[in-house]
Amino acid sequence: MSKRLLSGIQPSGELHLGNYLGAIKQWISLQQVHESLFCIVDLHAITARQDPKKLHENIRRVAASYLACGVDPQESAIFVQSSVSAHAELAWVLSTFTQMGELERMTQFKDKSKGKGAGQINAGLFTYPVLMAADILLYKPTAVPVGDDQKQHIELTRNIAERFNNYYKTETFVVPEGVFPSSGARIMGLDDPTAKMSKSAPSDLNFISFSDDADVVRKKVKKAVTDSGSDVTAGDDKPALTNLLTIYSLLTGREVSDIEKDYVGKGYGDFKAELAEVIVEWLAPVQLEMKRYLDDPAQLDIILAAGTEQANRIAQVTLDEVYKTVGLGY
Ligand code: TYM
Repeated sequence: MSKRLLSGIQPSGELHLGNYLGAIKQWISLQQVHESLFCIVDLHAITARQDPKKLHENIRRVAASYLACGVDPQESAIFVQSSVSAHAELAWVLSTFTQMGELERMTQFKDKSKGKGAGQINAGLFTYPVLMAADILLYKPTAVPVGDDQKQHIELTRNIAERFNNYYKTETFVVPEGVFPSSGARIMGLDDPTAKMSKSAPSDLNFISFSDDADVVRKKVKKAVTDSGSDVTAGDDKPALTNLLTIYSLLTGREVSDIEKDYVGKGYGDFKAELAEVIVEWLAPVQLEMKRYLDDPAQLDIILAAGTEQANRIAQVTLDEVYKTVGLGY
């Protein structure tokens, strides 16, 4: 298999439906035709202060979430970023190939630092995309499946890779391609269809979390914002319904146009009640599987150790090549 895939998620909290539909769902189908590496990017998570005990727990919960969603540990590597020291090492080298102006233009940085003075923004938040470039370039992947919000970071990664290769007249890095789902690349908040679903949203009503029980899911869907009118249809003038129909469609594999037909003559209430059940039916087995992995820490350790070994093996070769190219060491 010559095709390789790398992706990752921050363990800064419980995963949500947007993470699944925008990223993990793609991973599951792509892992069959790619050598796949799925990272839990804990070094990225500390760009916001984390409680150490909670962070450690979240790292394991994210690993269990990957597995519960269908990442196959026999086929794919799951590993924790901080266990592979080459990520931080390559990030340093790449930071010397990244311009301040490029980092200042990153919309995620602008969003996260909004309203804060320079004295309140840590440098890690600023250089975050350089570490992400290192995560990717170490593995020379051909595909990086992510949601829409990571497009700019992938573009920067491509520029850094090309700049390095051009400067040294080498082909050290493979210029990676982002892979974005045709539907679900930006799942919007249930309480605000103008902004993406996010675990850092001010209200819990924004997202469906992997730890929500059936009643919480029903409550959140019931309270989800809808559009004016009463027809259950998608369209530019109906951002809320479009989002809810997209979720329904992606979880059931049915076309939006087909789902719309079910609700002709019915109202938002009927649709929302059935959407809640669709989500509950998807989430319940995921939660059971998560619990199974979390109740068996030894098995999770074995999976993460094997993933780390595979990741280290690949990453170290690239790092050695980079150091040699740059002239580092003796
Ligand atoms: P993170 O942890 O914020 O999100 C993880 C993945 O979930 C996707 N996602 C969404 N997709 C659709 N709709 C949404 N509302 C939504 N919210 C999140 C994200 O696009 C992402 O694919 N910087 C990355 C983590 C990272 C990474 C990497 C990814 C670090 N190194 C290397 C790929 C490769 C991030 O913060 O994702």
